[in-house]
Amino acid sequence: MPYLRYKRIMLNLPTIQTVIPPDIIDLGAGEPSLSLIPLEMINTSAQKVLSQSDNSFLQYGSEQGDGHFRFVLSQFLSKQYEFDISPEKLFVTNGISNALDLICTLFTQAGDTIYVEEPTYFLAPRIFADHKLNIISIQSDDQGIDFELLEQKLKTIPPKFFYIIPTFQNPSGHTLSQEERTQLISLSIKYNFIIVADEAYQLLGYTQKPPSSFAAYTDQKNIIALGSFSKILAPGLRLGWLHAHPVTIQKITICGLLDSGGGLNPFTSALLRDVIDSGNLENNILKLKNTYSQRIQSMHLVLQKNIPEVSYTHPHGGYFFWLQLNNGMDATTLREKAKAHKVDIRQGKKFSTSNGLDQFFRISFAHYESEKIEEGILRLSNCFTGKE
Ligand SMILES: Cc1ncc(COP(=O)(O)O)c(C=O)c1O
Repeated sequence: MPYLRYKRIMLNLPTIQTVIPPDIIDLGAGEPSLSLIPLEMINTSAQKVLSQSDNSFLQYGSEQGDGHFRFVLSQFLSKQYEFDISPEKLFVTNGISNALDLICTLFTQAGDTIYVEEPTYFLAPRIFADHKLNIISIQSDDQGIDFELLEQKLKTIPPKFFYIIPTFQNPSGHTLSQEERTQLISLSIKYNFIIVADEAYQLLGYTQKPPSSFAAYTDQKNIIALGSFSKILAPGLRLGWLHAHPVTIQKITICGLLDSGGGLNPFTSALLRDVIDSGNLENNILKLKNTYSQRIQSMHLVLQKNIPEVSYTHPHGGYFFWLQLNNGMDATTLREKAKAHKVDIRQGKKFSTSNGLDQFFRISFAHYESEKIEEGILRLSNCFTGKE
């Protein structure tokens, strides 16, 4: 082993955020497998970008994000979303997590109230907690958001923003219908709050084309739609975009962070210009859709055959199965048992901001190939049969 790599391992200086021990199958993991991250494709674009004479992408970047990149991205998104996206309405981010943090910094103050869905992406409330925001959860199940409850809450404590994952939600896989989207937007205007739509999975529909991105509604100043390359290319790129009305974008671009450091990630943006321009991003998304739909089928079949104690809605996109336990066991207990069988899951409680959802758990088909998924589910099935 090369000396430096050896030394790094000895000193426990990891490269990857979550290292899964080789004997464990972590079905809960929500990141793509390394085998799905296209190094060759990124290498080809990097070589092109680094061998040209224009080195302006190595300068402090324009605050809104590299204009050339925003143009290419707007063309790509217009094709994917099937409506016109203007580069004027795009702002470059370091990914959705960064966009959420920036939105909290610029649009809220400590003690403000915000709403999240119940369940929600478990790491978003961590960001909101960093900003000392008061989090209220709004029930959202298979039937979607409970609008009656929502309006009751709005009458008492309206939020600064409502954070939603409208398409192939993490963890539930649920997608808000077109009607629900318009209903929510009407409420946001009536009660004067921002809708922050986290659309990490908008472009990963396998059997269903989802309703329009919230980008379609950004003629309203209170709608912000967030996209990311993490799930459609590579999380380590730390690149994403924010879609909003130009007036809202302007409120973001005048912040101190950008004044000092310039626009976010100009180097990676330059690289991504080429990945998009060459058609490679589109090809990658097609490949992912193909791979993930096959894996969904494998996971579904092995679940049906081996774990009758769970029910779920078949996912049409995204990364996850959200399973409900029907045998009275709670997911925290299941997780303990699962660990003994060298398999892991994410218990529903993690996705609750009110300590609920313990009859649910999340598993993903993004991290492992079909064979490993099947083996993982078989290991998990032992938790129900009592096999040691
Ligand atoms: C719903 C959702 N939002 C945001 C993220 C993180 O996105 P990014 O890598 O762009 O920060 C994830 C990652 O799992 C996610 O599932």
